[in-house]
Amino acid sequence: MILVTGAAGFLGSHVAGALLGRGHSIVGIDNFDPFYDRRLKDANAAAVRAAGAEFELLEADICDEGAVRSLLQRTRPEGVIHLAAKAGVRPSIADPAGYARANVLGTSVLLEAARWAGCSRFVMASSSSVYGNNRRTPFSEDHAVEHPISPYAATKRACELIAFTHWSLTKMPTACLRFFTVFGPRQRPDLAISAFMRRIGAGEPIDVFGDGSMARDFTYVDDIVAGVLAAYERVAAHGYRVWNLGSDRPVRLDEMVAAVERTVGRDAVVNRKPMQPGDVERTWADLTRSRAELGYSPSTPFEEGLRRQWRWYQEATAAPSRT
Ligand SMILES: NC(=O)c1ccc[n+]([C@@H]2O[C@H](COP(=O)([O-])OP(=O)(O)OC[C@H]3O[C@@H](n4cnc5c(N)ncnc54)[C@H](O)[C@@H]3O)[C@@H](O)[C@H]2O)c1
Repeated sequence: MILVTGAAGFLGSHVAGALLGRGHSIVGIDNFDPFYDRRLKDANAAAVRAAGAEFELLEADICDEGAVRSLLQRTRPEGVIHLAAKAGVRPSIADPAGYARANVLGTSVLLEAARWAGCSRFVMASSSSVYGNNRRTPFSEDHAVEHPISPYAATKRACELIAFTHWSLTKMPTACLRFFTVFGPRQRPDLAISAFMRRIGAGEPIDVFGDGSMARDFTYVDDIVAGVLAAYERVAAHGYRVWNLGSDRPVRLDEMVAAVERTVGRDAVVNRKPMQPGDVERTWADLTRSRAELGYSPSTPFEEGLRRQWRWYQEATAAPSRT
């Protein structure tokens, strides 16, 4: 039995489904945070259920220590994969306290509950955003990460520090995974590729921030899932460890828009807007450590990933449950 937090979300539903496919029993916890449409999360949870019967999903807040502990006491998971969070850079600027509560308090509750329940390991989502506007590229886990530039990024860095302290006190093996902009089927609707596919497909204009030179190390969701599972398997040998999970293939925003246009088969109507506060100029993962220690090897070409996401979006919006 493995506890997956955020199991009704984009990444949580993929990780839970992959683990079910490998024969694990999964208990999920998710509060269906209203950040985006609940129907998308219900559809994500339904996709997990379709992947295997050994899946229970509790609708509860990870900050609710009583609910978390009674779930752990009843289900006795061997380990935790913690993916629940308030995600997203720009909305965190309007709600720093909400982000701190869900991410920092929620992670603290889970770490201590996992120790209390005797879990053998804890794997959690961090983010490439902790690198801020790091000038050294590609971003290595050894680079300084003391200047995050959004409340969201600061909460993720705080979670890494809290996890380190918790590991140093308890020796429960703990991994922090710095995901680099993940895309693919079920991608969060606020993320750029998802929003651009939706709007270009509908013939609506898109907002493009900055001059198009902003770049992201877009990473396909199946590659991220493989990295999460490898970290879960291997973290015990490392104690506390931070790993980058990216693609080592930064794509400029204007190139991404052109690739989405090709995928959707329509030209975009572009509204140029200034760079947004909190957005970093570029991300680029150094994968030396995760390749060597996790056998991580992202393999999905960017445009192939876009085609899969677009196919999923078309099928999902055609299904009666999503209309
Ligand atoms: N998607 C990316 O590109 C990306 C990049 C870097 C890091 N991450 C991190 O990966 C994790 C998953 O991200 P995602 O894109 O799947 O986001 P998501 O919003 O789709 O999934 C997160 C899930 O957590 C749940 N949640 C939020 N607050 C909660 C709370 N207090 N209690 C219980 N559940 C709660 C939400 O309802 C949601 O279903 C997050 O920790 C995010 O910060 C994602």
